[in-house]
Amino acid sequence: MHQIAVANGTIGVFAQGRGEPVLFVHGFPLGHDMWRGQIDAFGPNHRVIAPDLRGFGESKLTGATANTTLTMEAFADDLHVLLHAVFVDRPVVLCGLSMGGYIAWQFFRKYRDQLKALILCDTRATGDSAEQAAGRHKLAEQVLTQGPMAAVDAMLPRLVSPKTAEEQPAVVSDLRKMILRNSAVSIAATLRGLAERPDCTQMLPNIDVPTLVLCGQHDQITPLAEMKTMAQAIPGAQFVEIADAGHMSNMENPKAVNVSIDRFLKSI
Ligand code: MLT
Repeated sequence: MHQIAVANGTIGVFAQGRGEPVLFVHGFPLGHDMWRGQIDAFGPNHRVIAPDLRGFGESKLTGATANTTLTMEAFADDLHVLLHAVFVDRPVVLCGLSMGGYIAWQFFRKYRDQLKALILCDTRATGDSAEQAAGRHKLAEQVLTQGPMAAVDAMLPRLVSPKTAEEQPAVVSDLRKMILRNSAVSIAATLRGLAERPDCTQMLPNIDVPTLVLCGQHDQITPLAEMKTMAQAIPGAQFVEIADAGHMSNMENPKAVNVSIDRFLKSI
């Protein structure tokens, strides 16, 4: 992992290989390890860049307090800085899952020149409803008083499909480990940023890069119907349903996700 200095912290970045740069942006509250199945598949023929976002995994957030907010825009700004730091000097394919997708909207808005294509996995363009935002603030308080285990209890049961939970215990335990290694302050700060993220629906018709949209068949967090509608609003976007997967489609069915990504990368 490279350690890249950014404002108030450092970002741990896995960067390896040569060729078309593909930037993998993880979901909440995880880390770059969630992309292991894609790093292994695409690393040999691409430049694969997979950061631990500010405050997650091997990245460090300094000077944060119990009241800090980490916005999707701040994460996108970090991606912009770290791409330069790992010597990526051409537009990237940004592949983001869930929160990684929320960050992708901000990256498109601010750094369009650095973007060649988008792969949006299990994500949405809308912001939180008042009720969802209130739930995030409540969970932030619980995480600060009880620790990251409160985030495991609230999120883990909804991240994977029932079939994955039964048949792939390693996926569940990897997710648990990824959540538990993050600090309560970082998780709470990101929950606040998620709650206040803007609605990006208006941006969809203006997306002018090739786009692939992937969604797990049993995704409970960003369901199929909503993602299909989102994909239809992006000019020319391709939509692929990933069988036997929930929200963490790339971990639950890496084979199907990798086939779709590979086909897409060869087409752009
Ligand atoms: C994620 O996977 O990044 C989260 O589920 C996003 C969210 O809670 O909206």
